[in-house]
Amino acid sequence: MKCKVTVNKNTLFTEEGVSLYSALVPRGFGGACGGHGKCGKCKVKASGALSALTQKERDLLTNDEIESGVRLACMTYIEGDCDISYEEAGASQIRTDGDLREYVLSPSFVKYGAAIDIGTTTIALRLYDSAGNLISGQSCLNPQRSFGADVISRMEAALKGEAAAIAASIRNGVNELIKKAARGAGIDPHDIDGAVIAGNTAMLYLLTGEDVEPLTHAPFAAKRLFGCNVPASDIGLDAISENAVIYFPPCISAFIGADTTAAICSAGMYEAGGITMLTDIGTNNEIVLNDKGSFYACSTAAGPAFEGAGISCGMSGGDGAVDKVYLKDGKYRVRVIGDKAPAGICGSGIVDAVACMLDTEDLDETGYLEEDITLDENVTLTQKDIRAIQLAKGAVHAGIVTLLKTSGVKIEEVDTLYIAGGFGSYLDKENAAKIGLIPAELKDRITVTGNAALSGASLLLLSLPLRSECEAAVKKIKTVQLASNPLFVSEYAEAMLF
Ligand code: FES
Repeated sequence: MKCKVTVNKNTLFTEEGVSLYSALVPRGFGGACGGHGKCGKCKVKASGALSALTQKERDLLTNDEIESGVRLACMTYIEGDCDISYEEAGASQIRTDGDLREYVLSPSFVKYGAAIDIGTTTIALRLYDSAGNLISGQSCLNPQRSFGADVISRMEAALKGEAAAIAASIRNGVNELIKKAARGAGIDPHDIDGAVIAGNTAMLYLLTGEDVEPLTHAPFAAKRLFGCNVPASDIGLDAISENAVIYFPPCISAFIGADTTAAICSAGMYEAGGITMLTDIGTNNEIVLNDKGSFYACSTAAGPAFEGAGISCGMSGGDGAVDKVYLKDGKYRVRVIGDKAPAGICGSGIVDAVACMLDTEDLDETGYLEEDITLDENVTLTQKDIRAIQLAKGAVHAGIVTLLKTSGVKIEEVDTLYIAGGFGSYLDKENAAKIGLIPAELKDRITVTGNAALSGASLLLLSLPLRSECEAAVKKIKTVQLASNPLFVSEYAEAMLF
């Protein structure tokens, strides 16, 4: 039977037996525990033909609330026509914050929440209070690296009986990072009662103990794509509140994970009109195209060069990393993060260094290097490094071009190209175009977004309405296979040149 439900004076029709929570979720409604009956946050005023008040509601609501008709939406079921009202997030709660785009504050937690991105190489975390203030940020290397530098070798290790050890190592790594961040903010980590964890599909499988076997061979069918809430205790996150609920944003495919979904959310791509692209440059490079509401996505194995891994003097972008290289009087000059002696070179520095080497003609267009180039003490780039950089930049460039050609969008029609990844905000756009990391036609339309996956996870933590919008957008994405795609193969061969 269809029931007439009036919600904040708007009428909708829904089936009998549906919970108020399910009826309201499409309107951006949500509770901190995602409808699991734990948080008591899904309060609405409701009257009419509804299921009887439960004991759990009596426990979580005050007498005054019960008397004034307040119900918990996830425990109340529609039995006929009814009337619901609740406070929708208003303009006063709209926030803009650092590298987060404007959002409606409607946090999924009560006291403190954690946004976490589990990358193949690093884990990054931000802690927020319920007013949406960033109170701490931390990152560390992914401890799973001891089971292999890349996703494939870790999945192979999991299949050889190491799955439990791999899950334990990442859970331990996340717990330790949470404790460190909480210490930095001066709070008890057990007061963290909500979290969002983004990561590529394999990382989320390895964390949750899901069998990775289907991800390791054709047709690469991911049995589970997440887009769900899980009790923290189910995945061994005992550093935080035992009642905490973890939200995993949806993955798009076996190769395109929840980190890309979060990055799309961070860029606001599904809301934007026009034609936009996003490329998240990491060990795997994911590319998404929004052609006026039609979404396409692909993934290429770029290798970790731009994350500073697999490069003889490579490192991630922390203190001591060369993050900029330039020429002065024909000589290489470097800028180092943290005013320290150079300890290595990170992604943005690598892009600059290669561009300078092309200017000095130390490097030719085939990628041939006459001799190793020393940029500063401790920082030398070798022929082997250049080959790794060629593979990485060729994969990114060819992926962008292939996605555009497949969808029929002309390169000049693209309004914005968002570049996410380990570059921070220091990627030099001219140099990125000069070395062929991105097509030169797009260089004036680039927006560099830093760790967009972490920013997206933060938004999905702080603004519940974004979760349903994001999940709906993901369902529209068509994935484009590149591995045996002749168009990609020929573009890749060409894009390897400088
Ligand atoms: S108690 Fe209903 S959403 Fe948490």
